Amino acid sequence: MNEGRKEQDPTLVCTCSDLYINDIEDAVADGEEDYTEIMQYHCTFPRCGKCQDHVELIVKQGEG
Ligand code: FES
Repeated sequence: MNEGRKEQDPTLVCTCSDLYINDIEDAVADGEEDYTEIMQYHCTFPRCGKCQDHVELIVKQGEG
């Protein structure tokens, strides 16, 4: 997690893998709801894991 980069761009969710809010929403729209599976959807994997809470928040909002 690069906190500075995330602060500069609030739409950036995962700085390790360069995933933005719309990337997470795309995965959710395709039926993914698990953090690791959302990473795999974008051909990557959790690294530091610090974006997990943010990813899960977006999943919840998508279910809303
Ligand atoms: S910010 Fe490190 S795994 Fe997402």
